[in-house]
Amino acid sequence: MKILRMSAAALALASLTLLPVAAPAAAGGQGGLRDAARGTGVRIGTAVDMSALAADATYEQAVGREFSTVTPENVMKWEPLEPTQGTYNWGPADELVDYARAHGQTVRGHTLVWHSQLPSWLTEDNFTPAQLRSLLRKHIFDVAGHFKGRIWAWDVVNEAFNDDGTLRDTIWLRNLGPGYIADAFRWAHQADPAAKLFLNDYNNEGVNAKSDAYYALVKQLLAERVPVQGYGMQGHLDVQYGVPDALPNLQRFDALGLQTAFTEVDVRMMLPPDNTKVQAQAQGFTALLTACLLVKRCVSYTVWGFTDKYSWVPDVFEGEGSATLMDENYAVKPAYTSVRNTLLLAAR
Ligand code: XIL
Repeated sequence: MKILRMSAAALALASLTLLPVAAPAAAGGQGGLRDAARGTGVRIGTAVDMSALAADATYEQAVGREFSTVTPENVMKWEPLEPTQGTYNWGPADELVDYARAHGQTVRGHTLVWHSQLPSWLTEDNFTPAQLRSLLRKHIFDVAGHFKGRIWAWDVVNEAFNDDGTLRDTIWLRNLGPGYIADAFRWAHQADPAAKLFLNDYNNEGVNAKSDAYYALVKQLLAERVPVQGYGMQGHLDVQYGVPDALPNLQRFDALGLQTAFTEVDVRMMLPPDNTKVQAQAQGFTALLTACLLVKRCVSYTVWGFTDKYSWVPDVFEGEGSATLMDENYAVKPAYTSVRNTLLLAAR
């Protein structure tokens, strides 16, 4: 499906400098990113904020127009799904799955095992290790089972490693030991055999201690016949730290037969934006996309929200923002144009 192969540099150059700058596409006067991506073999996705989807028609229409895969930003995490032990709130997650089906989109499930956004009944009660293991097993069977057949790919284990390549100290590692990762993949596969099962993390885009640890883990899991099919890189970049060199890292996971994906791309900056930061942002978005287009089994490129109106960045990174493809009024930025042009070139 990857029809055209160009070097990363050539693609980036062509998309940034050679093509005429496209007119703003916010109004949908031309095809969205999903149309531009047709024929590239890469799905273009976004995280979806379910409150915004319900309340903001411009947002809702853009999700349908621009993207061919969607990820729930929050509503499939354990805390919102099971705020009280034994009482599931499937509503918002079911809504997203239904929306995706109606719009011909796939769903990336996010996420089954994580140390964050866990319900307080789980973290505050003093469960024994054996109880925690059976609670995690039940959670995976309940959730992956509920959505069985309707999820394209699951982020099964999210953020399992520290940046230095050691396993992150979490409730799961402390109580279940390092085998919790293999267990989680086996349980998820039993619950939904068709879903592609991914590891997912941040700061693991380039070759570094963290991605080395993932590479070793994947080799070990494959040797043990654990059903792991994908390596997810969140892609939360910041213009002040530069762009990781993702291509060699994608290539080595691809060579193991794994699918790869960028799962949560955004490129933040210290506010206020200026032209230099805005150009650097466009380069960041485009460089990750280009790496994906160059690698056979890179299946998707998902942004963590597409408008600054609902971006998580200002809430978490002090003084930073403007991290997405469109501003708060849905006007497209150079990053949007560059991503779109890169897709159009690859699809020809
Ligand atoms: C974030 C959401 O965007 C926020 O709305 C929420 O308050 C916290 O979580 N890595 C992940 C995502 O895997 O689930 C996180 O999403 C962002 C970092």
